[in-house]
Amino acid sequence: MGFATNAIHVGQEPDPSTGAVVAPIYQTSTYVYEELGKAKGGYDYARTNHPNRKALERTVAKLEGGHAAYVFTSGMAGIDAVFRLLRPGDHVVLSEAVYGGVYRLSTQLLVHFGLEFSFVDTTDPAVVLGAMRPNTKMLYIETPTNPTLRITDIAAMAKLANERRITLVVDNTFMTPYLQRPIELGAHIVVHSMTKYMNGHSDAVGGSVILTRPEDAEKIYFTQKSAGAGLSPMDCFLVSRGLKTLAVRMLQHNANGLAVARHLDAHPKVRKVYYPGLASHPQHELARRQQKGPGAMIAFDLGDEGAARRFLNQVKICSLAESLGGVESLISLPAQMTHASMPKEVRDRVGITDSLVRLSVGIEDVEDIISDLDQALLYV
Ligand SMILES: Cc1ncc(COP(=O)(O)O)c(C=O)c1O
Repeated sequence: MGFATNAIHVGQEPDPSTGAVVAPIYQTSTYVYEELGKAKGGYDYARTNHPNRKALERTVAKLEGGHAAYVFTSGMAGIDAVFRLLRPGDHVVLSEAVYGGVYRLSTQLLVHFGLEFSFVDTTDPAVVLGAMRPNTKMLYIETPTNPTLRITDIAAMAKLANERRITLVVDNTFMTPYLQRPIELGAHIVVHSMTKYMNGHSDAVGGSVILTRPEDAEKIYFTQKSAGAGLSPMDCFLVSRGLKTLAVRMLQHNANGLAVARHLDAHPKVRKVYYPGLASHPQHELARRQQKGPGAMIAFDLGDEGAARRFLNQVKICSLAESLGGVESLISLPAQMTHASMPKEVRDRVGITDSLVRLSVGIEDVEDIISDLDQALLYV
């Protein structure tokens, strides 16, 4: 079956007890036993599992092409579960421009449990190799990176990881399995903030972890049920509904993203545009090879913080807000919002200036998005 068919049907079969085409939200914390030791319908308690979660996990595993998937209360909860595959003394090499929350989780929390982290430029395999230590157990990449849209060659990273027998984890949040196929390129684990494109409607927070190896799947499920960060029935229902339109949404996001990036690139008030779909992007060719489309995340620099502030205070259709990947255009200033937890010297090194604006282009009429940006740029 094709991607869109799977997104609509896998895990989304009519409810066997009523025939409802859309399965109900099983809003119950507990399930009755048939007799001692035998749960009636295979479920006992909603922390450990419930039908809406099971359905969503089947869809997500199918769409990413994994052996199994587990869904969590947020992208961060899923990423945390992945790091819990490690043991004290283990070392992880990560993309230096990762999402700020991953930076915070690793450098301010997980280091206290004996894990070691090195943040390097994963766009260069030689740099990644140089960062490896005898105790390196995991390579964690985000591609494209948030917010600077740098691209890491997933197949090259998989080769490197396999040679050293370490685990390659790819954060596929910006692309979704519709635009990028990390597992086919050799990734062992894929993570998502499903709060973003996977759900697509900015009405639920969620995360997923997709595994290719049964032994990893067992451990991730053990963490999900033990630590209790499995996604709730209502949120699973919302993400399942969002996923049904993933293919059409991503096609429109691509088209709108490209049109807006070209427009900004030609605008005299915009200093620099970061977007993999532009020929000026340093990894445009790699993006074309690795991604099915350029996506709809754009970063652009307005030169100074005051200009960025005036611009952001004037946008009307684009909402000044955290998050991304919704049907509505969302705009932010990473240095003060999503990446505020990253030290300034690290932000400077990875190109997150105080005037870098991040735009998640929605699927509104593209002319309306462009005229909104144009009127706000008058204040720059
Ligand atoms: C690329 C990326 N990964 C992970 C996360 C964390 O996801 P969540 O906010 O759902 O915990 C985010 C959040 O913005 C993100 O942008």
